[in-house]
Amino acid sequence: MEQYVIKGGIPLVGEVEIGGAKNAALAILAAAIMTNETVLVDNLPDVKDINVLLNAMTEIGARVERLDRHTAKINGALIGDFSVEYESIKRIRASYYLLGALLGKYKRAQVPLPGGCDIGTRPIDQHLKGFRALGAEVKIEHGFIIAEAARLRGSHIYLDVVSVGATINIMMAASMADGNTVIENAAKEPHVVDVANFLNSMGANIKGAGTDVIRIRGVESLHKTEYSIIPDQIEAGTFMFAAAVTKGDVTVKNVIPKHLEATTAKLLEIGCEIKELDDAVRVVCSKGLKSTNVKTLPYPGFPTDMQPQITVALALAKGTSMVTESIFENRFKYVDELARMGADIRVKGNTAFIDGVGRYTGAQICTPDLRAGAALVIAGLAAEGLTIIDDIHFIERGYERFEEKLQSLGAQMEKISSDRELQKFKFKVG
Ligand code: UD1
Repeated sequence: MEQYVIKGGIPLVGEVEIGGAKNAALAILAAAIMTNETVLVDNLPDVKDINVLLNAMTEIGARVERLDRHTAKINGALIGDFSVEYESIKRIRASYYLLGALLGKYKRAQVPLPGGCDIGTRPIDQHLKGFRALGAEVKIEHGFIIAEAARLRGSHIYLDVVSVGATINIMMAASMADGNTVIENAAKEPHVVDVANFLNSMGANIKGAGTDVIRIRGVESLHKTEYSIIPDQIEAGTFMFAAAVTKGDVTVKNVIPKHLEATTAKLLEIGCEIKELDDAVRVVCSKGLKSTNVKTLPYPGFPTDMQPQITVALALAKGTSMVTESIFENRFKYVDELARMGADIRVKGNTAFIDGVGRYTGAQICTPDLRAGAALVIAGLAAEGLTIIDDIHFIERGYERFEEKLQSLGAQMEKISSDRELQKFKFKVG
């Protein structure tokens, strides 16, 4: 079993290149099977979730050619099976994007109910509501969602909750429906816009992505394209908070600063200096951190996927802070692990009340999910002494070469898989 071992207390300094957005890439790869022509997708992050999805796509008959780590060619002409196997996809949530893609193209899909991080109940009723409004018959049997339609027809759909997944899934299916669809109360996340841009580059007709009303005029078929995925705002934000908690000076490169506004605003509030360049953001944090309050919200609000990272910073800040999680109800499971490093946090309902402690001490801790795992790594980077992190496979689902990128900023950390390697690391760092 692999672990991260970290000797904390070193300010991170330097530049780090941010990869393509995992959550955009997952939807775009699924959508790539909607044409019979070959699609080239670039700036893919080389992370486990992407590889799981690509395998599942191969299993239903898509041809996937990996040109290099970050580029793949996909051809969906020979898909003969509209049923995605449970084993191949149970771990990733974005498996549900194959539902919208297959339903749009073939009017038939059978996909296992999704897995993913255990951060709350995560219903998919809004996805199903959208498919039904488009004329599909949708049932859940033996753990699978089965959707079928003789033909899909455009519809007016109001989402009862702002859902990234439902917005994208309905957008995909509606792109190949007869007539016009309007999605109201749509999610506005950058990756919703990226998927719309991708589909439009394949000949779809989607307008309004990035606002809460998306209008889609269905087309009969989609065609080939070459497309580059947007940068990952959550990977970027994670490195920005890593700079903050280690009192470092880090420039995150290859980002769209506009997508990072909520993160940047909070870093300024807690006492960091931020310099925005065209496609980079520099975070300098030389003084002690200050407390603040934050509530997670759909974009452009503060992202729920950055909630553990800001909590790690606020637990070190002077004073009392409050973090309210309004998207997923079960997203504070990492707080017990942070307490083992000395944090003083009480969770009541969906709010964490934090009394800043000024320092962490290294401990052996366990990763409960992807983003919490990344947050615990940055806590380890700030901590005095040695931190050992178990279950790092969660982190590898969404961060490419995480330890290498942190090492390049001066972090003393390694991925280890035996006690011998741990002893070697201890010997090396003294
Ligand atoms: C996506 C991201 C995830 C991020 C989340 C919110 C992917 C693969 N994952 O997840 O990293 O944390 O957006 O930005 O892109 N809901 C319903 N019914 C539904 C769908 C959602 O009630 O049919 C609720 C959810 O329980 C949650 C809220 O809506 O409370 C937002 O969820 P949603 O935006 O759909 O998240 P995901 O697409 O699953």
